[in-house]
Amino acid sequence: DWTPDIFVEETVANLKKQLGDDKVVLGLSGGVDSSVAAMLIHQAIGKNLYCIFVDNGLLRKDEFEGVLKSYEGLGLNVKGVDAKSRFYDELKGASDPEKKRKIIGRVFIEVFDEEAKSIKDVKWLGQGTIYPDVIESVSVNGPSVTIKSHHNVGGLPAKMNLKVVEPLNTLFKDEVRNVGRSLEIPDFILGRHPFPGPGLGIRILSDITPEKVRILQDVDAIFINGLKEEGLYDEVWQAGAMLLPVQSVGVMGDERTYENVVALRAVASLDGMTADWVHLPYEFLGRISNKIINQVKGVNRVVYDISSKPPATIEWE
Ligand code: XMP
Repeated sequence: DWTPDIFVEETVANLKKQLGDDKVVLGLSGGVDSSVAAMLIHQAIGKNLYCIFVDNGLLRKDEFEGVLKSYEGLGLNVKGVDAKSRFYDELKGASDPEKKRKIIGRVFIEVFDEEAKSIKDVKWLGQGTIYPDVIESVSVNGPSVTIKSHHNVGGLPAKMNLKVVEPLNTLFKDEVRNVGRSLEIPDFILGRHPFPGPGLGIRILSDITPEKVRILQDVDAIFINGLKEEGLYDEVWQAGAMLLPVQSVGVMGDERTYENVVALRAVASLDGMTADWVHLPYEFLGRISNKIINQVKGVNRVVYDISSKPPATIEWE
């Protein structure tokens, strides 16, 4: 019978044999898959695993510092790379969604490659590829192909001339979570919602500036923390906020305002291929909307997305 404990034991033993004294470099994203892959390889080869966590300036509020700390707490040898301004510079003026994705993907590979090169004699690239990723990358149709090509999966190995080690490539997501529990990775990491590689970059529906990122991070944090505080986070598969390229008129005290509109989205799904919008309680939405408008400078209107996938997608870009 398959059990997470046996999987961990066998996989660690195999990795030890396969990797010997070789060095491995692995990009952490803060997500479940890369975290579990890292912990497995870490159990096998310890300090010979070099983890890199890139701040692309498009992460959730305080995510970089928070996640970096919890990785260090797990004993991982992890280097946080602040590449925010490099991403912002390269993204300047780009508003087409696919163009933004391409820039974010390319700059990530460049930054990662530079960091990896500074590790002497590294031989392997560790990746958190799971079984559905393997299947999706050979199927020709469907949005997943495009998604993956922009994620950190496709481009890296080709460019870097490293052998690839993917200890999770026979597992489904729920199995990965169970393996993560067996490795004692905290629920804070294992239970998190999916988050796209291009991050807030595809939730700002126009060109990206640090100020827009700041606004969206604050809005997103109020929404996500609200879901957590009211026990709704685990009932939702994925949630987030979009900064719309629209200003609307409002009134604050006796001043007229002309500020940004944000859209909140929460969906229920099994695998992201189809999704239903979640009927969050009106009272909850009301509280969150008030909080956002009162606390986030630059936003004077909040709307809720009630579209399902298909025909809408989860992300707006
Ligand atoms: P859509 O918007 O296609 O999203 O319904 C389905 C799932 O995929 C995520 N997503 C991405 N993930 N790079 C990623 O790593 C991307 O470019 C990308 N686009 C969408 C999305 O967050 C959802 O979980």
